[in-house]
Amino acid sequence: MSGFSIVPLVLQHIDGVLEVDKLSFSLPWSRDSFEAEVSRNDFARYVVAVSDGKVVGYGGVWIIAGEGQITNIAVHPDFRGMGAACKMLEALIDICVKESVNDMTLEVRVSNTPAINLYRKYGFVEEGIRKQFYEDNKEDALIMWKHDMQPRS
Ligand SMILES: CC(C)(COP(=O)(O)OP(=O)(O)OC[C@H]1O[C@@H](n2cnc3c(N)ncnc32)[C@H](O)[C@@H]1OP(=O)(O)O)[C@@H](O)C(=O)NCCC(=O)NCCS
Repeated sequence: MSGFSIVPLVLQHIDGVLEVDKLSFSLPWSRDSFEAEVSRNDFARYVVAVSDGKVVGYGGVWIIAGEGQITNIAVHPDFRGMGAACKMLEALIDICVKESVNDMTLEVRVSNTPAINLYRKYGFVEEGIRKQFYEDNKEDALIMWKHDMQPRS
């Protein structure tokens, strides 16, 4: 399905992003955190997926010292399984390639099969574990990397 527009996250999207975040994570971010990411973090690049004017997903990457660290990708539960995460991840990869990033990385809960599959689909591979990384249930994080980035064909 291609009914999503992927656009840069701006302050006007934050109410929608907060809703998606709350429905997606056990430790959602605060409004201040998102506002800081958009307004004050020069390393941050965020996109949102919009469907019929509604924010249905968001994703972000920090570009630091030539590496792209994915901070989060989330899709509203009512809009999952329709390709929104793919389109956002493609947009983040394209941003990184344009900014000459060679390697991208992220952490994901070891139990989060949908997200792990999503990242594998785009060439990320598991390279390590951070033990008890998540505060709420002490779950381990899988560390995934995508190396030698090339423009998507
Ligand atoms: C992970 C998440 C972002 C996927 O969003 P989505 O829009 O439903 O994903 P898409 O429809 O674009 O699917 C992309 C790929 O993800 C994987 N995937 C998505 N949902 C899946 C599921 N329920 N089970 C297994 N794999 C799944 C598949 O590889 C899929 O590709 P395919 O359709 O070719 O099989 C979404 O489930 C979500 O918001 N989860 C909660 C937040 C979260 O855990 N984010 C990751 C933090 S690191």
